Amino acid sequence: LQTELMAAIDSAGTLEALEAVRVSALGKQGSVSALLKTMGGMSPEERQTQGPIINGLRESITSALAAKKAELETADLNRRLATERVDMTLPAPDAPRGTIHPVSQVMDELAEIFADMGFAVAEGPEIEDDWHNFTALNIPETHPARAMHDTFYFPDEMARDGQKMVLRTHTSPVQIRTMTSQEPPIRIIAPGRVYRSDSDATHTPMFHQIEGLVIDKGIHLGHLKWTLETFLKAYFEREDVVLRLRPSYFPFTEPSVEVDVGYSVINGKRVIGGSEGWMEVLGSGMVHRKVIEACGLDPDVWQGFAFGTGVDRLAMLKYGMDDLRAFFDGDNRWLQHYGFNA
Ligand code: PHE
Repeated sequence: LQTELMAAIDSAGTLEALEAVRVSALGKQGSVSALLKTMGGMSPEERQTQGPIINGLRESITSALAAKKAELETADLNRRLATERVDMTLPAPDAPRGTIHPVSQVMDELAEIFADMGFAVAEGPEIEDDWHNFTALNIPETHPARAMHDTFYFPDEMARDGQKMVLRTHTSPVQIRTMTSQEPPIRIIAPGRVYRSDSDATHTPMFHQIEGLVIDKGIHLGHLKWTLETFLKAYFEREDVVLRLRPSYFPFTEPSVEVDVGYSVINGKRVIGGSEGWMEVLGSGMVHRKVIEACGLDPDVWQGFAFGTGVDRLAMLKYGMDDLRAFFDGDNRWLQHYGFNA
């Protein structure tokens, strides 16, 4: 039987023919399978002499089949390589290519600028609890600043640990999340989506902010000013960027400063640089003692500054879009025009 089967394997010219030999030997009704079955009816002595012979037969047939199969497959591949050709001169189909959204582009630019200044990127949830979004930032329940935020509240049933849940109205809760989970010194930026119930040409219910936070010993307003100046010059890629710091109010900073950047009017268009006019670009200040305390740190040891600004607005100022809503329309013509190549 072995010689017979080996000859059949050897002469199989195709994978199909080889498979037929395999079935005839090792299949359910196969000749080798039949021999294997007879072992059940053998006496122990018989099985001792016949067993190894029958199993040896099965093994040698199995490996001969595998060897022949590999041989046939290689031959098949070589034949295809020899006969099939790819026409490299055919023009490739013109597949549409996507672009990088200006918001993503600007976030990447900002992360790179701040990375050079030693800032890491931090993140927090967009569904935030009342304590992180407001209370820990020195905005208690009764504070008028709450009304200014046009907050999207989740229904009471969705409260977590007795905390009302909101869509975060700013990236400032990431300040709290960072200070409560990391030891100072801290240097982070936190870009991300924020939500306010507000919608017109200059407001969309979802927009993007980037937060900055530095906590260390002996940090003062001068550090804040230098950091913002260095950042805005790098971002607008101009040395003639001029900043104007105006006293302002945020519950979580004291003192608070609003920062304007100067522009010049060239051919009727506003161009960043110079000081013919001023545009507000960000809010900032020294982190309030109460905020540092709420995070379990000693405000007599640790001080810092924070800032927050709209990423969409920064994109508009640098790349000259005029309608904020277009950022979120998903209009492919707009995306092709303002998008960036990967
Ligand atoms: N969170 C403030 C806003 O959304 C911006 C800000 C951040 C101000 C950090 C000061 C410090 O308007």
